Amino acid sequence: MQSDEIRKRFLAFFEKRGHKIIPSASLVPENGPSVLFNTAGMQPLVPYLMGQKHPSGNRLVNVQKCVRTQDIDEVGDNTHDTFFEMMGNWSLGDYFKEDAIKWSFEFLTSKEEGLGLDKNRLYVTVFEGDENSPKDTEAFEIWKNFVSEDRIYFMSAKSNWWSVGDNGPCGPDTEMFYDVTEKGLGDLTKEQYMEADNKQQVVEIWNDVFMQYLKKDGKIVGRLPTQNVDTGSGLERVVMAVQGKDNIFDTDLFTPIMGKISEFTTSSNDRAKRIVADHIRTSVFIMADGVIPSGSGRGYILRRLLRRAIRFSDVLGFKPGSLFWLAE
Ligand code: ALA
Repeated sequence: MQSDEIRKRFLAFFEKRGHKIIPSASLVPENGPSVLFNTAGMQPLVPYLMGQKHPSGNRLVNVQKCVRTQDIDEVGDNTHDTFFEMMGNWSLGDYFKEDAIKWSFEFLTSKEEGLGLDKNRLYVTVFEGDENSPKDTEAFEIWKNFVSEDRIYFMSAKSNWWSVGDNGPCGPDTEMFYDVTEKGLGDLTKEQYMEADNKQQVVEIWNDVFMQYLKKDGKIVGRLPTQNVDTGSGLERVVMAVQGKDNIFDTDLFTPIMGKISEFTTSSNDRAKRIVADHIRTSVFIMADGVIPSGSGRGYILRRLLRRAIRFSDVLGFKPGSLFWLAE
């Protein structure tokens, strides 16, 4: 299944379950300067998660363009990139954990309507509880209907609490991981699962956030007016799982640009090739949303990406001007 089919299936699946399809917002955030780029599908929806009525209703779905550069040094490994597309569905005070979890599982595993992924390669984490919010036994109980109990791990707020920064809506989450090894890892203890995660043998493919709390200056200060669901599923990683690859650069989202790079170099430096591919792709999307290189803010991020792309294309021995063709 190609990436375009996956996007279409995601939107159709949730549209059929009462969600309105909304377009991706620009990478440049419109409502406030708290971040330089949209880094998650929920970002343009913050006012609605805080209680404002959305003109398209209380069930939404989209595929949002995102840029995250905090992990820029990780790009070149199997799963990190600076531009990605996030498939997301939202409940604004409508359905909650039961439907969110059921639909995530159904979309991932259904052959007819979803992706037909192997449920025996799925692992799930849920929130273990802390002073802000109780242990999420509710999510655990719901998950037990779909995956075996010993593949559901309770984790701390470090991994299973999601917020967009120090201010705004947030809440505990449940995350889905997929085993991308050739043979399959089978049942794992929590320690074995965490080791597999470190080795990128399992990759996070979906996050359901149960947004019920409000954060101010890094502290939880109360509840939101409604209980919301904010989900995010990284398209690149999902495509990797569906296409049976162990890295995002071997998926159809990247093979055209990786193929072009191979025309310009005989080097076997895969990390450099991946960095050039990622940074040019991100730069093109940033420029398409109206940003130009400069010495500060968004323009500086773009300048840094281009400079790194040029540096690594030098490592690969590209002739000057070659990056132009990658932009195409
Ligand atoms: N907002 C959540 C995330 O980005 C879904 O993981």
